[in-house]
Amino acid sequence: MEIRKASSLGLCFGVRRAVEMIELGVAKYGRIETLGPLVHNQQLMQKLMAVGVTPVDCLGKVQGNTVAIPTHGVGPELLSQLRVRNINIINTTCPIVQQAQSAAKELAETGLEVLVFGDAQHSEVKGLLGWTKGRGIVVSDTTRIDSLSIVLKAEERRSRRLGVISQTTQTWPVFNSFVKQLVAVFSSCDPDIEGSTFKELRVVNTLCRATQEHRRAAKELAQKSQLIIVVGGYDSANTRHLVEICSPIIETHHIERADEIEKVWTTGKQYIGITAGASTPDETIEDVIDRLKAF
Ligand code: F3S
Repeated sequence: MEIRKASSLGLCFGVRRAVEMIELGVAKYGRIETLGPLVHNQQLMQKLMAVGVTPVDCLGKVQGNTVAIPTHGVGPELLSQLRVRNINIINTTCPIVQQAQSAAKELAETGLEVLVFGDAQHSEVKGLLGWTKGRGIVVSDTTRIDSLSIVLKAEERRSRRLGVISQTTQTWPVFNSFVKQLVAVFSSCDPDIEGSTFKELRVVNTLCRATQEHRRAAKELAQKSQLIIVVGGYDSANTRHLVEICSPIIETHHIERADEIEKVWTTGKQYIGITAGASTPDETIEDVIDRLKAF
């Protein structure tokens, strides 16, 4: 059996940076509370909880003097509420997410309505929406584009000037398809009919390169493997995208921990590929390799 890792996998620079900031914070302040999980990976969260990090659901449940903002970021209102509390704030918002937040803010301040392409339930998207100061709409999938165009035509209160950004971990093909459909709606507007035309359509690419690279490497590996194991949190969006990419190519299993691997998956397989989401710790990946070697 030959076990091969994807050429790009596991912890991205944003998560590594967040973990370093938290470790420094623990050394300096002791106990730290995070607003929700710092990252969407149970193993990493358990490791951090063991050194004094506690996730809390909301600001109202914070009891200590030091709060960490997760890599996915938060909206400006929550940030202001934190600042007036006069407590230590460790802002681990990934720089890529910060760029997306700045784009959301700038588009809204320029007077554009802002379409945020992503999962409405994801904390990053909720935060991005906050930065649009009430001018944001979340679009979760491309199938909504028809109804969206109707909504946009119908809503007279809207400026007909549109800005578009994306959740950072969306995939390029899906975002690209969304933008193409929007452009089609834009170009089908009749300039001779008063009020039917979009005046402006501005698209900002806020996608994260690290996750694009993970996906490219996962696809490449899947094409030369007989089995792919995807390691990462079940609620991690970028890990699920890796599963979506590999599944149509070859037998693929999504696991969080090494002990979830079943020996029967490996029967008759010579080439086994491993990829991992952007918040999967190095040790978890090594545990997976050790278990496969034990088979
Ligand atoms: Fe940042 Fe991309 Fe990682 S947005 S946290 S570098 S997955």
